[in-house]
Amino acid sequence: MGKMTLEELRKLREEKKKVVEKRDVSDKDVVIIVGMGTCGIAAGAKQTLDAFLDELDKRDIHNVVVKQTGCMGFCANEPTVEVKKPGMPDIVYGRVDDKIARKIVDRHIIQSRLVNEHVFDKPSTDIVG
Ligand code: FES
Repeated sequence: MGKMTLEELRKLREEKKKVVEKRDVSDKDVVIIVGMGTCGIAAGAKQTLDAFLDELDKRDIHNVVVKQTGCMGFCANEPTVEVKKPGMPDIVYGRVDDKIARKIVDRHIIQSRLVNEHVFDKPSTDIVG
């Protein structure tokens, strides 16, 4: 990499600050956990993680923390993502590509509605209720 200008360095610092802010758990009540095990990464989990960070940033949403975890044990449904939002059941979504990640931000995080076609696992209502 060649030398960076001061302006480029400032821009890079601002970008990294936003990413670090998304990983900071204080004052956040919604958690998105992306499975980053070997098969998750092979299935595109890094692009999924980046799509969440980008969409939350674009929409100026600050109460969501994005975490990553290892293998969730669902090889065939990677990338998998767990979403924990107060007032809603904890949901594991499967086959979450970057497009679905953005849809989850829109529907689940903003509108409090499930992205039904990608729900892979949720607590059974007879256990929860
Ligand atoms: S390596 Fe695929 S589910 Fe763990």
